[in-house]
Amino acid sequence: MPPLDIARLALLVAHFIGLAALIGPFLLQIRGGSPLRLRLMLIGAVVQVVTGNALIASRRLQGIEVDELKMILKLGIAVATLGLLIAAVIVQRRRGADAGAVRPLFFTAGGFALADVVVAVVWS
Ligand code: HEM
Repeated sequence: MPPLDIARLALLVAHFIGLAALIGPFLLQIRGGSPLRLRLMLIGAVVQVVTGNALIASRRLQGIEVDELKMILKLGIAVATLGLLIAAVIVQRRRGADAGAVRPLFFTAGGFALADVVVAVVWS
């Protein structure tokens, strides 16, 4: 298999691991109870933005088509997700783990992440 194919497939695997890191902790914590743990979700959001852009680059290098509009939408949603999670972490640090604003930020970020899965799968 050509090295560029291997690199693109490795990036796609990392993209799916990032997806799991982002959405797994969201689903686990929906019911509430204990203070929200956001670090893994934050890492997942960063991984999605980085691997997503690297996937676009590797597809271009190989002459595989890239749906620009779909990618702009996915990137916008992923960056918004990341921003919401950063805001949630900052609020937690400044006002404590149980601050009222943290859960709405957490839910919006999780909803956006799920929306990106839907865009990825439905828009083809
Ligand atoms: C929360 C954020 C994200 C989620 C949940 C997500 C999810 C997915 C899923 C499920 C796939 C496989 C299905 C498919 O091929 O369409 C995929 C592929 C892909 N994603 Fe994402 N994605 C996210 C963010 C991004 C971002 C920010 C970009 C680029 C700016 C991106 C670029 C791509 C590309 C280029 C592929 C196709 C890979 C290939 O088949 O070569 N993704 N993504």
